[in-house]
Amino acid sequence: MTFFKSISLAFTCILLSLANGGISQSGLAAKKYLNLPLGAIKPSGWLHDQVCYDLMVQTNGLWGHEHDFYDYVAQTDWLGGDSFYSDLEEAGSYWFNAMVPNAVLVDSAELQSQTHYFLDFVLENQDESGWLGPEVFDASKPRYLWARYPYLFGAIQMMEYNATLVDSVVPKLYKFVTLANTMLKNGEGLEEWTQTRWEDFVISLQWLYDFHPNGNEDLLIETMKLLKYTGDPWEDKRRQYFPTSPVENLQNPFNLPLTWHGVNMAEGLKALPSTYRFTHNQVSEGWDLLFQYHGRPSGIYAADEYLAGLGAVRGGSYLYQVSGESKYADRVERITYNALPATLTGNMWSRQYLQEQNQIAAQNMTPDPFPLDGPYSNVFGLEPNYPCCTVNHGQGFPKFITNSFVKTADNASIVQVYLGPLTVRTVLAGRNAVSASVDTLYPFSDTLTTRVSADHPFTYYVRIPRWVSGATVALNGGKAEGVQASESGLHAIELPAGNSTFTLNLPLEITIESRPNNSVAVHRGPLNYAFDIPRTQTILTQAAAEPRAVDLQFEASAAWQYAIDPSTLEFHETPPASGTLPSPVFDTGLPPFSMSVTACPIAWPEAGDIFASSPPENVICTGGKTQITLWPLGATKLRISEFPVFDSTKNGISRDH
Ligand SMILES: *[C@@H]1O[C@H](CO)[C@@H](O)[C@H](O)[C@H]1NC(C)=O
Ligand SMILES: *[C@@H]1O[C@H](CO)[C@@H](O)[C@H](O)[C@H]1NC(C)=O
Ligand SMILES: *[C@@H]1O[C@H](CO)[C@@H](O)[C@H](O)[C@H]1NC(C)=O
Ligand SMILES: *[C@@H]1O[C@H](CO)[C@@H](O)[C@H](O)[C@H]1NC(C)=O
Repeated sequence: MTFFKSISLAFTCILLSLANGGISQSGLAAKKYLNLPLGAIKPSGWLHDQVCYDLMVQTNGLWGHEHDFYDYVAQTDWLGGDSFYSDLEEAGSYWFNAMVPNAVLVDSAELQSQTHYFLDFVLENQDESGWLGPEVFDASKPRYLWARYPYLFGAIQMMEYNATLVDSVVPKLYKFVTLANTMLKNGEGLEEWTQTRWEDFVISLQWLYDFHPNGNEDLLIETMKLLKYTGDPWEDKRRQYFPTSPVENLQNPFNLPLTWHGVNMAEGLKALPSTYRFTHNQVSEGWDLLFQYHGRPSGIYAADEYLAGLGAVRGGSYLYQVSGESKYADRVERITYNALPATLTGNMWSRQYLQEQNQIAAQNMTPDPFPLDGPYSNVFGLEPNYPCCTVNHGQGFPKFITNSFVKTADNASIVQVYLGPLTVRTVLAGRNAVSASVDTLYPFSDTLTTRVSADHPFTYYVRIPRWVSGATVALNGGKAEGVQASESGLHAIELPAGNSTFTLNLPLEITIESRPNNSVAVHRGPLNYAFDIPRTQTILTQAAAEPRAVDLQFEASAAWQYAIDPSTLEFHETPPASGTLPSPVFDTGLPPFSMSVTACPIAWPEAGDIFASSPPENVICTGGKTQITLWPLGATKLRISEFPVFDSTKNGISRDH
């Protein structure tokens, strides 16, 4: 393994980390909401199936098998050779951070023993100075701090799940913090990646501060400040500096190109909330600017580094917990239910590096349309373009689940942040043991039925997404009443002691989003809809050690050049007869939701050989009207989701909207 290879890993997809944090104590301001420890929240229904062990798409796919064969994280490799380098310098830390919650959510003893082994192995190899894990194989390479940060997130989650680990792990983390503090004072441990990702370390230090300060408050706060002042100045990214067009044509005012790197931008989104707790500076407008100028209908923002979008998932949960603003939660839900499954094959054995909103092929691109990434970036495979997402993509669904419920800062209520089939169990203030179980096919259903059991009366809060209007709730079989969401998007339900059941009905309408070049995107609630281009599949390569790990080329096998008349959109629901969704659900023809729309064929040229040019404006139909079907974007692997429009009553004159 060469130094170069590790650097190229670094250039890619760090997914942002979970939110950890806690109660206010002197010195550090409180977060608005408290996260629940790993293990308190579990997926159920189709979401369990998406991640979990029996039918488990993710765990039965590439993600759950990497440890068996993939050289960056395979245990056989830890015991010899030079791959310690990749294991703890990036790949192993990523994998560990993501696999810890996955292993707990699926109740897998085998996966938990893998993460336990990794936790112990690194701690056992801590050296006298406090440096974590085996020393890098090449002693001439300086020590850089950032690749240890995802390891810290993994260790924190393991301690939340298994409190007996605290006594042995926390003192070792303090040894590392003490070393890092000295290194930062000496200007060591820093390079440009550490400088963009400092906020992840701040979040881990806050967890120590909140739960195990052990008299180290000054050390912790000083280290947080050192990180902020040696890191990139995210707070200076005010409006006048914000890039409002593709950055390859612009000069970065800070002379810090990485601050415009897609993934690192997602890291930057966490900077203000993570420092708010010691600087008291308010969360910035950066989030709004980012989505205003770079947003996409699938929920992500555009970057040459696709998984930056997933980055926003993780950063989004932390932003929500610090600020309580519902826009973050709405965005996270859209990304999880659209962009994340869209970039993976249905069985989750292959993933992309870059995804396109209009994607007419997934193959080696000629010429390369991506200014900063390779032509192979949108192939579905084991490690297209970079291996980093291979060892990191497993984070998406587990972190969404473990952040789907939080507690209010007074420890008296639970808040359901994300909607989906989930269960939660916790003890609130006054020894109020509560559990809740949400039964739903959401986002493939508009109804959620929640059973709650509590020792004492309490208030249950549920987020009502901004795309819903006219939501109702019926408690214990009573009359459906309109919900009254607060300004922060939460509806409060007063529940008695004992068992209660309430049914939330979330009526959704089709909405049309204006996109560039007079095109439109189609949504209904959290789901973005796309034309699923029929495809043929070619296996490009197969991993020698694991034949299911394939690189797949997809080519269109039918026309995709259509304009649609949005006024003719109709929504169709075919609830599954069995009451459960097929497994997997995110693939062609499988979701129970679809839409029909009147369309007509048009001339729509390709740019290069195999990618669609911008949607044409002022289209003329080249053939008769027809009906096409749109499907949830996550189920489409080739797609059109930004459509030219026409007026079907005027036969082919383009329509204003
Ligand atoms: C918790 O950690 C201890 C110490 O390593 C271990 O013996 C025990 O099996 C763990 N429990 C669970 C539930 O993982
Ligand atoms: C919340 O209250 C429970 C029960 O009284 C208690 O065990 C727990 O430590 C409290 N948690 C926090 C974060 O205050
Ligand atoms: C309340 O709900 C719990 C869990 O769902 C169940 O085990 C228990 O039997 C219920 N109690 C009553 C009185 O219905
Ligand atoms: C609109 O289309 C033109 C060419 O058809 C293209 O150059 C331009 O970049 C497009 N605008 C956007 C915002 O995509």
